[in-house]
Amino acid sequence: MDIFSIEGPVKLSGGLRVSGSKNATLPIMAATLLAPGRSVIKQSPRLADIAVMALLLKGLGAEVNREDNGDIAIDTSNIDNPVGEYDIVRRMRASICILGPLLARCGRAEVSMPGGCAIGDRPVDIHIRGLTELGAKIHLDNGNIVAVAPNGLTGKRIFLGGPFGSTVLGTANILSAATLAKGRTIIESAACEPEITDLANCLNEMGAKISGIGSPRLVIDGVDRLSGVEYKVIGDRIEAGTFMVAAAITSGRLELTNCDVEAMSAVVDCLERIGVDIEATEDGCIVSRSGELKTADITTQPYPGFPTDLQAQLMALLALADGNSVITEKIFPDRFMHVAEMNRMAARLRKEGPSVIVAGVDKLIAAPVMASDLRASAALVLAGLAAEGTTVVNRVYHIDRGYERIERKLNAVGAKITRKRQ
Ligand code: EPZ
Repeated sequence: MDIFSIEGPVKLSGGLRVSGSKNATLPIMAATLLAPGRSVIKQSPRLADIAVMALLLKGLGAEVNREDNGDIAIDTSNIDNPVGEYDIVRRMRASICILGPLLARCGRAEVSMPGGCAIGDRPVDIHIRGLTELGAKIHLDNGNIVAVAPNGLTGKRIFLGGPFGSTVLGTANILSAATLAKGRTIIESAACEPEITDLANCLNEMGAKISGIGSPRLVIDGVDRLSGVEYKVIGDRIEAGTFMVAAAITSGRLELTNCDVEAMSAVVDCLERIGVDIEATEDGCIVSRSGELKTADITTQPYPGFPTDLQAQLMALLALADGNSVITEKIFPDRFMHVAEMNRMAARLRKEGPSVIVAGVDKLIAAPVMASDLRASAALVLAGLAAEGTTVVNRVYHIDRGYERIERKLNAVGAKITRKRQ
């Protein structure tokens, strides 16, 4: 198992190119199941989760190859085993996004029910409800979700809201399945995340008829078939946000490219309010900080609100602000595994229900810490950049799921991170 040894404090300076979005690539890879033939996904990031999705698709009968230029080529001509195996699905919850495409393509899909997760309970009831509304018969068998629709799916008006807002992968599943359903599907309370917009744009390039893209009301007119596509995914707004915090927490200056700042208004607004300078450029932004960090009260929300996937990273930053801040988690109320670890680095964080009171300190002090989930781990790396001494982050494989060699990128702009095998 790899660990990171991080020397701090450092001041980052230079340029970083943001990679392709993990959370856009995963449902788009799954959506290639809808179009028998060859598709190419450009700018797909080299990540552990992408490799898991490739393995999952191969298990169904697809051919998946990473080309020398980084593109992923997927040939879905022969999908002869519509079963997402437990051994693969248990490694990544996002595996659930093959359910809709597989059902629409084969009239049958069997996907192991995702289990527990470090960021809290993550039910898939809304995915199942939506596909049932499209006419699928679904039952659980030996821990597997078994969905059948031998006569195809039929369009319908479907409300996809849940107790914590809409569902991103649930929207991806229903949207993808509805492209091949008979007639019109209207998804109300669809997730509006840029990754869903990217999926919808990709599906339209494959021949789907989707309108209302980017809004909570998606209208899908079913078509008979989709065709393979060459599609470039968007830049990863969560990686971009993580690098913005990296510049801010080290009082540094980073120029980010391949980053759509307009899709990050809530993050930009929050960072500016706490004293970070963000200047938009043609292909990204320049992020810097020279003054003190101010406090903020932030609540995570569905897009366009502040993303849960940047909550932990923001907490690392506010841990160094001048006063008290409150961070409230409205998407995954238990997503606070990083709190106790950051407190080991002399942060002063106190959990109160779905909120954390962040009492700012003058400095963080290095310590050995444990990565728990992807974003919590990224937050510990950020804290390590600012902390005095050598921070050791254990279980780095969590970070490798969602950040392309984060240590190489950060070292190129002044970090001192060593990856070691233990
Ligand atoms: C996606 O997960 C992302 N994953 C997550 O990214 C992200 O944190 C999350 O959206 C929220 O933005 C991918 O895109 C691969 P949800 P998803 O369904 O779709 C509840 C990362 O770090 N809910 O939008 O699984 C659910 O419990 C991650 O990259 C139901 O109640 O999340 C949560 O409270 C991890 N029933 C809320 O909805 C359902 O059937 C939103 O979850 C589905 C969800």
